[in-house]
Amino acid sequence: MQRQVIINDVGPRDGLQNQAKILSAQERLQLIEALVEAGLPAIEIGSFVSPRAVPAMANTDKLLADLPKGEVKYSALIPNKKGYELAREAGVNNVALVVAVSNTFNERNINTTTQRALAVCEELVELSKADGLNIIVYLATSWECPFEGDIAEQAVIELAAQLFSVGASEVVISDTIGAANPLEVKSLMDKLVAIHGADRLACHFHDTRAMGLANVYAATQAGIRKFDASVGGLGGCPFAPGASGNVATEDVVMMLEQMGYHTGVNLAKLMFASDLAGKLTGSCAGGRAKAWLEKQFAVDERTL
Ligand code: COA
Ligand code: ZN
Repeated sequence: MQRQVIINDVGPRDGLQNQAKILSAQERLQLIEALVEAGLPAIEIGSFVSPRAVPAMANTDKLLADLPKGEVKYSALIPNKKGYELAREAGVNNVALVVAVSNTFNERNINTTTQRALAVCEELVELSKADGLNIIVYLATSWECPFEGDIAEQAVIELAAQLFSVGASEVVISDTIGAANPLEVKSLMDKLVAIHGADRLACHFHDTRAMGLANVYAATQAGIRKFDASVGGLGGCPFAPGASGNVATEDVVMMLEQMGYHTGVNLAKLMFASDLAGKLTGSCAGGRAKAWLEKQFAVDERTL
């Protein structure tokens, strides 16, 4: 069984896009640097979306020049071709296109239909081949939509197949509002893994109903080894009523490492990043295991 798990910290995007306080490019960089220091192998640094729609994500292009160099896989979210072009100009190598299963969610979030979003994906994949960029796709509302309610497994399976067939390199099955339960997660991910293999799939969970970690566990049981998580549990989508923060990176790392998986993340340094997220935003509670984790590191420091 593969024991390596890749965690993509989406705090600087999913986390910061929904905060009352808008951070400066410098503050956003500080958070990214702390995550790099903690050993995160992948970080979503921001998005190239309309600054009118999401003011907190304006100036993502200003981050690129100052990102710490190294092995970290940086990505940025885009909603459309204009976002793709802006990301390319800024020097982003990995773009994450958002496409929801739910038509209504696509209309509310990115002012398009699911079918049009699929066509955009196809067009951007073609462009990305010439540009040497990598396109991953967030398949939003894969279990429930805040407007349409339950999403049928078959709809996700069909759309994921279409996205792969037009050339997406990876599809991130996303529980945008944090409504899925572990049985539903295992069921859908088992079917997708059987068709596409686990390597090209990842999962993105929100912790709205306190099932984020249980859902990560369920997906590992289906063979998934790539997860989004957000430092301190920051997160939420301004276009998804009822969504709360992502499952916290520190909780996911703690659980997986205790279960014998390797994430490459240093928990003590990650707690520093989590504290920093709290200081910068003024509203980041930290993961559910915060008190316990802080106690562990206090003990470790005493014994040094
Ligand atoms: N980045 C920056 N500006 C963009 C843009 C992008 N990716 N796409 C469009 N715009 C600009 C256009 O240039 C235009 O500007 P102008 O009025 O100054 O000429 C304006 O936005 C309207 O363009 P239009 O194509 O009509 O967009 P829209 O009003 O239909 O909005 C989106 C569509 C996708 C731009 C907008 O809904 C959006 O940014 N959504 C992002 C949602 C998000 O980030 N959700 C959270 C993550 S899931
Ligand atoms: Zn999200």
